[in-house]
Amino acid sequence: MGWFDGKAAVVTGAAMGIGRETARILAAQGAAVMCADVNLEAAAEVVELITDTGGKAAMIKTDVSDPKQCEEMVAATVEAFGSLNLAVNNAGVTTEWYTTVTHPVEEWRRIMSVNIDGVFYCLKYEIPEMLKVGGGSIVNVASILGLVGFETGCAYTAAKHGVVGLTKTAAIEFAQQGVRINAVNPGFIMTPMQTNAGIQTGDETYNYLAGKHPMNRMGDPEEVAYGIAWLLSDEASFLTGISMPIDGGYTAQ
Ligand code: NAI
Repeated sequence: MGWFDGKAAVVTGAAMGIGRETARILAAQGAAVMCADVNLEAAAEVVELITDTGGKAAMIKTDVSDPKQCEEMVAATVEAFGSLNLAVNNAGVTTEWYTTVTHPVEEWRRIMSVNIDGVFYCLKYEIPEMLKVGGGSIVNVASILGLVGFETGCAYTAAKHGVVGLTKTAAIEFAQQGVRINAVNPGFIMTPMQTNAGIQTGDETYNYLAGKHPMNRMGDPEEVAYGIAWLLSDEASFLTGISMPIDGGYTAQ
């Protein structure tokens, strides 16, 4: 018996990092998982990983900054699996770090279009499908930078604070109709988002970021994915509208 037997899920940004681990864990707990990502080649590897171990998965090319593609993603999930019960709005992008003065306007728009607009578009199309089947559960992936500021990260931090606010509002709106909507707030996690920016375990930047967490390390994507899965599950049935740090103590300081 898995937490999600017979349920259909969509995970955005499922090809790598936190999304990949989440897709894997949801499938291991019995969900049929639609892996949505801009990178279909990497998403195919995740689908293979899941199906090779007896799970159920499919994929769709989705850029969450485009509302039409989010609508199509939800429709494709329902077509493939018969309904939509679970959603993880995880796709996100980072940027080089600028101050609020030096941040290029186009880069501000790019970050906003994926990290906050994308979450709104996903919710807009996911919630109606959940209402059709009497409820569902959604987790939005925010960040510790949705709870506190960070020098040189104005667009990312503003977008992630937006995800926290959007989560609270949508949660209140649909609480009585059986749709739970929560967020997680990961600390710095060793995923391709960080390694592609050149960070390696033990190097100067790693040690700087790790040192900001009381546990004095960065997190693993799996550690976030387990938190997401639990929040999605009926084990968390009285939780809605929360933003749960998974951050090695970062926001406890
Ligand atoms: P990642 O870069 O390792 O993986 C992100 C995935 O999202 C990739 O598969 C990428 O192709 C996909 N993606 C990017 N733009 C997309 C778009 N427009 N539409 C659909 N898919 C898209 O990132 P990671 O680290 O796994 O991050 C996942 C989420 O967690 C993001 O929202 C990120 O902001 C958040 N987060 C990450 C932290 C970290 O330190 N890695 C810390 C706190 C939050």
